[in-house]
Amino acid sequence: MDAIKHLEDSGAGAVVIKSLFEEQVQLERKEFDEEMTQYDNAFQEAITMFPRLSHAGAKEHVYWVQKTRKETKLPLIASLNCVNPQTWVEYAVQLAETGVNALELNFYSTPLFLDVSGDEIEKREVDVVAKVRAAVKIPISVKLHSFYTNVLHVTTQMQKAGANGFVLFNRLFYPDFDLNRVEKRGIVHLSNPNDSLPSLRWTALLHERLSANIAASGGVDSGLDAVRMLLAGAQAVQVVSTLYRNGPTHITRLNDDILRWMREHNFQSVDDFRGILGKRRSDDIWTFERGQYIKAVLGFD
Ligand SMILES: Cc1cc2nc3c(=O)[nH]c(=O)nc-3n(C[C@H](O)[C@H](O)[C@H](O)COP(=O)(O)O)c2cc1C
Repeated sequence: MDAIKHLEDSGAGAVVIKSLFEEQVQLERKEFDEEMTQYDNAFQEAITMFPRLSHAGAKEHVYWVQKTRKETKLPLIASLNCVNPQTWVEYAVQLAETGVNALELNFYSTPLFLDVSGDEIEKREVDVVAKVRAAVKIPISVKLHSFYTNVLHVTTQMQKAGANGFVLFNRLFYPDFDLNRVEKRGIVHLSNPNDSLPSLRWTALLHERLSANIAASGGVDSGLDAVRMLLAGAQAVQVVSTLYRNGPTHITRLNDDILRWMREHNFQSVDDFRGILGKRRSDDIWTFERGQYIKAVLGFD
């Protein structure tokens, strides 16, 4: 709550609450079951020692979301990352009932099977959007990773299924190897400003082609990084790594830098410059991107 108060005081427009992961609940449930059964063999009574206790499931997360809702006036977005279609719907309903302003659905699939096509995975994701849309009334935004072959197609399908916004993009988690211990390790890397380029590209390519809003995410470190996303057409900008690095008060700096840039360029409001560098016509985009790419590659020493 302290962190959220700091974000509010620093000028954050909204907060996305840490995701509820389906596996987190499954894991806790498994650990809980193991804890509860480990004394079963020691003495017979142990089996009925806690007869009325059942695991909280998503309840603990939902409780924290409710508590947060009561303590801040900031627009709150609950975030969900599940695997099974019915769990997406079940948890989405529970989160919507907390009074959050919107839901963010995070699709994060690691393909495991050789015979499952990208198309099938996308269709399943679109179906989840449709099912959640039918179950909740609040706006839904979908957070995607950047590796779809055609982000334009997948976002259009999800919009038809009821998505009101998109967060471009999630950063995938890549396992690494520890060479000293010769074992696998998982590290959360904080991003750097170069990581913002895929988001900048797709935000510009999607500009005025969807009615859904776009929140640009990934590598936004300074106010000027945020300005770039707004110029591409983003409705909002999400920041994570830079707040871990610089603390919640960094939001004030980001806002001040955006305002300073606007003054220097005589813009009165964000709407005066939002999307002016987003690309509108697909033949423009094709020529522009191919042209820039060829120029960059041929001109590189
Ligand atoms: C410490 C940490 C925790 C994160 N937790 C979540 C999470 O709960 N749900 C989620 O969808 N993304 C999560 N992310 C990913 C971020 O939301 C974001 O997509 C990514 O870090 C890129 O944005 P950034 O460059 O501003 O950090 C997390 C990232 C970090 C660094």
